[in-house]
Amino acid sequence: MSLKIAIVGCGKIADAHVEEIGKIPSVHLGAVCDLEPIMAEQLAARYAVPGWYCDVASMLEVEKPDVLHITTPPQSHLALARQAFAAGCHVFLEKPVAPRHCDAEAIVAAAVAAGKKLAVNYWPNYEAPALELRRLFETGALGSPVHVESFLGYDLAGEYGTALKRDPGHWVHRLPGKLFQNVLDHVLNKITLYLDDDQPFIQAIAYCGDAAAAGPGQLLDELRVIVRGAQTSAYATFSAHARPVGHSLRVYGTRNTAYVDFAARTVVLERKQTFPSALGRLVPPFLVAKDYLRQGLRNANSFSHARFHYFDGMRRLLSEFYLSIERDSPPPIAFDQILRVSAMMERIFEQVYPEVFV
Ligand SMILES: NC(=O)c1ccc[n+]([C@@H]2O[C@H](COP(=O)([O-])OP(=O)(O)OC[C@H]3O[C@@H](n4cnc5c(N)ncnc54)[C@H](O)[C@@H]3O)[C@@H](O)[C@H]2O)c1
Repeated sequence: MSLKIAIVGCGKIADAHVEEIGKIPSVHLGAVCDLEPIMAEQLAARYAVPGWYCDVASMLEVEKPDVLHITTPPQSHLALARQAFAAGCHVFLEKPVAPRHCDAEAIVAAAVAAGKKLAVNYWPNYEAPALELRRLFETGALGSPVHVESFLGYDLAGEYGTALKRDPGHWVHRLPGKLFQNVLDHVLNKITLYLDDDQPFIQAIAYCGDAAAAGPGQLLDELRVIVRGAQTSAYATFSAHARPVGHSLRVYGTRNTAYVDFAARTVVLERKQTFPSALGRLVPPFLVAKDYLRQGLRNANSFSHARFHYFDGMRRLLSEFYLSIERDSPPPIAFDQILRVSAMMERIFEQVYPEVFV
């Protein structure tokens, strides 16, 4: 039987959810909801969704969805997740899970208590190159992870950046970690896949990258974090000023190193050199070129099969999440992984915005 999906929160990211849900044959979108009637009505009209509501309790009661996608700002996630679980729904939640780590713990606890599935939208981890990296790791090609470098660039002049720069009352400014909290899941959830310590050492610094604008009250938009676990270390970097706006991950292993470029959708294994003498310096660029050529052709093939959309990773994650509901198997993202990301974020924000945590 087709799973019935509902969405609460009809803002910017909701369109992506509707579009990716629409690509999965085993489910259907029954209704959408937003506190602002116009937002719900317009989303429903844009995608021919049968029902729209301004009150989530009414939507849950009337529509009885199997799964609720929560795509509202993080400040509302805990209350909405509790309502959803109480109504018997599984929950697909937008990141960040919640403003505070204790709220994230409460959401996971509510899912466990209700016996319902929960997943957070860590969609870049389900992009083809990220999955290929995971395969390389699991088949031993990398050896044990020694160090991880996760980088995310951001364009404050883009759609999301403009919205929060224009509006001093925007919900992002009210998050304890401000701009960083709205993006850092995507930096840290790649690290926690390879660094499984519960309480790693963390050192964070942040500053405003526009020296001319820097001053009291200015939005901090550059973040550097050093993480050290028992076996593995990591650097997490967020930059609103580096160009091009990059998105990458490098995992250094005891055997080989792998580099994922999420923007170009490539993953390359940097192998130990085995050619003798000058050949060892001549051959490697050709091997790297061959790797990139292979990736380019694979991407072209995905494009020709309509599998190269921006949010294809979300489609893949959603498919796995819905399958876990249909089969009553573990959801794709372990709860422990969700909580380690959230705990790490809070420890970073305590260092960057100590005044918020007094
Ligand atoms: N996974 C990603 O890559 C990604 C990308 C963008 C945004 N997001 C996340 O998605 C969430 C929403 O972001 P956005 O940019 O779409 O926000 P937005 O401000 O554009 O939209 C939020 C909508 O939620 C509605 N809303 C707020 N509280 C509500 C409630 N209690 N009940 C019903 N509706 C409510 C608002 O009226 C608004 O229309 C955030 O957590 C954000 O971090 C994730």
